[in-house]
Amino acid sequence: MKLPENARFSTVCLHAGQEPDPSTGAIITPIYQTSTYVQEELGRHKGYEYARTQNPTRAALEGNLAAIEGGRAGFAFASGMAAINAIASMLKSGDHVIVSDNVYGGTFRLFDKVLTRYQLSFSYVDTGDLDATERAFTPSTRMLFVETPSNPVMRITDLARAADLAHSRGALLVVDNTFASPVLQQPVALGADLVTHSTTKYLNGHSDSVGGVVIAVRESDVEWLRFVQNAAGAILSPFDSWLVLRGTKTLPIRMAQHCATGRALAQFVEAHPKVQKVYYPGLPSHPQHALAARQMKDFGGMLAFDLGSLDAAARLLKNVRLLALAESLGGVESLISHPATMTHASVPSEHRNALGITDGLVRISAGLEDVEDLKEDLTQALRSV
Ligand SMILES: Cc1ncc(COP(=O)(O)O)c(C=O)c1O
Repeated sequence: MKLPENARFSTVCLHAGQEPDPSTGAIITPIYQTSTYVQEELGRHKGYEYARTQNPTRAALEGNLAAIEGGRAGFAFASGMAAINAIASMLKSGDHVIVSDNVYGGTFRLFDKVLTRYQLSFSYVDTGDLDATERAFTPSTRMLFVETPSNPVMRITDLARAADLAHSRGALLVVDNTFASPVLQQPVALGADLVTHSTTKYLNGHSDSVGGVVIAVRESDVEWLRFVQNAAGAILSPFDSWLVLRGTKTLPIRMAQHCATGRALAQFVEAHPKVQKVYYPGLPSHPQHALAARQMKDFGGMLAFDLGSLDAAARLLKNVRLLALAESLGGVESLISHPATMTHASVPSEHRNALGITDGLVRISAGLEDVEDLKEDLTQALRSV
């Protein structure tokens, strides 16, 4: 079994990075649950010395994810936040970073509460507005860190233009591609230098693993990330690597269904009289629908909508039965959450309100249940609002 050089996307997802196991022929990469490797003699070994540094299961996943994103190499970490922290380790004291203003709350917390202690500075800008983004550059800006679609109000950033802007100012473009997944959006092809994911979400896809990855394009970044992955040691475990590898085999077909259900639910809530506003890039009412249609293959399984008040949101969340009230996204089960008190609780309330993350906002991660069951659940829960 050999992956053809011109293999298409679904084939790459299934096979890249994985050869049948050389010792047994096992078609699935085994979980190499070992901490060390026996060496033949001093200085002679099979390329594996210690499992923080190299692990065959993790290496298979890293090769798989690098191929899926079209990068030079990938590095798997213990969580999405550990992956973002590894990217931040490329910065030096005095550097400045421009960040999408409604970035994931945990990313904001890491930047604002931890990394500012190390003389790094961050400006939070609507990167959907590239003129505003351009104005935020300073002579010390080293990175433009973008999340698109953003969480949870689905703001879109034009990645090709953002890459040109960053590069013209000597900065790197970093894209958190967690929400779209590489099925819908390929940041490297649009000029990104680094792509990161919380593999906890669509890449694993089954709500049974926490992990992160960074995919790099430039050789110097690959070298640094390899060094820092080993030096700081926040590696993904062999078992989690194996789970994510299993997830990427079905990523394209799962994403097709997540998108179909996401779109159907967005249309359903948009037509509901108790819903005041819907955020879904696939709706023509989304202010950046045309850009999303150009940049993304489809619009994803994430949507958010505003019910006008905390009381209305709380009633809906109390009364859903099939949709599970939980943080996270991208799994097979549909989840519903309240960004203001859950994922974005670490963002100050004035900042949250300015971004549209109001007390009445509810977010759904559309899973793989029958969409009619999900609509029936929302219909009965919305009666209590
Ligand atoms: C867009 C995005 N990036 C990064 C993260 C952090 O990932 P993790 O929870 O795996 O650390 C999350 C988590 O929700 C996320 O939604």
